[in-house]
Amino acid sequence: MPITRLEIIRPDDWHLHLRDGPALASVVADSAQRFARAIVMPNLKPPVTTVARAQAYRERVLAALPAGSTFQPLMTLYLTEATDPAEIAKAKASGIVHAVKYYPAGATTNSQSGVRDLKHVHGVLEAMEECGLPLLMHGEVTDPAVDIFDREAAFIDRELIPLRQRFPRLRMVLEHITTSAAVQFIDAQPAHVGATITAHHLLMNRNAIFAGGLNPHHYCLPVLKRETHRRALLEAATSGNPHYFLGTDSAPHARGAKESACGCAGIYTAHAAIELYAEAFDEMDRLDQLEAFASFHGAEFYGVPRNTDTVVLERRAWRVPAVIPFGGAQCVPLRAGEEIAWTLVCPARQVQEVATGSAPVAA
Ligand code: NCD
Ligand code: ZN
Repeated sequence: MPITRLEIIRPDDWHLHLRDGPALASVVADSAQRFARAIVMPNLKPPVTTVARAQAYRERVLAALPAGSTFQPLMTLYLTEATDPAEIAKAKASGIVHAVKYYPAGATTNSQSGVRDLKHVHGVLEAMEECGLPLLMHGEVTDPAVDIFDREAAFIDRELIPLRQRFPRLRMVLEHITTSAAVQFIDAQPAHVGATITAHHLLMNRNAIFAGGLNPHHYCLPVLKRETHRRALLEAATSGNPHYFLGTDSAPHARGAKESACGCAGIYTAHAAIELYAEAFDEMDRLDQLEAFASFHGAEFYGVPRNTDTVVLERRAWRVPAVIPFGGAQCVPLRAGEEIAWTLVCPARQVQEVATGSAPVAA
């Protein structure tokens, strides 16, 4: 008998783009409904480069939450070649900044202010290694001579292996891994080097970008890879290995910015994030491993307590809307107009209340 109902400790999203302003207001509830906490990416315009900016952004996220939500945005700083090592101690002491994000300059959306050469930020990395603030890496080289499908593997060889040698105690997360090369690398690392895996890289291979014609809504960075890599990611995510944890990389863009002659990279998955992961784990017949991947491994890595309440998923298909509101525009979510096999029922707390008859009766 297949599992039809799944109750797990409430998950966290360890890699999320919430945007800002009206767009933030449109999307944050999707994450807050599913997750207790999220690592919030700093690639705004202008980027979140200082503790003061992170504090202000955090306030805007909290203000955009639905009334009564206890969702916690865990903030990050955007690493630039001008980052002052003194900002790291401040970040650590702030209690609201949980990591620093490395974008190679030019690698992806709003990465123009990123790092051209990691040697230029060694002082900052030393400070991070000292105080234990993790470095979150967009792990792709930007060298145009390297094939776009090989840029993660090249990053590991050219940048990451030397970085591990130079900063052996630096806590690191290789974000949104997409290849068997990344899995092999992470498998061989100590506990303070982890990796996030997105739902879309677990569910789709690169054929999805071209199926029936060019589909800009399946374009993200790192770009989807071939099926052998997807299989390696599925094995890693469902293995029970604490190196791997959930990070959606949900990255909404307005429809017009995607359906364009120069379409933006990014896939919106926050509307159905945990449901999509359930599909992936189900494909491997490893739903028993979903909770560890989604709710335990990341908290362990970041040294924060596990959540205590739970969410409930039911095997019941629902149809994703064709578009969702996105500020003054629209965003096309993953699976737009199509079905997802799992439904988020409601927080289990309410389920229990209903079961014991103590749910407040609507006036
Ligand atoms: C992200 C975005 O749009 O901010 N896009 C993406 O394809 N993942 C940036 C990023 O994380 O690379
Ligand atoms: Zn991202």
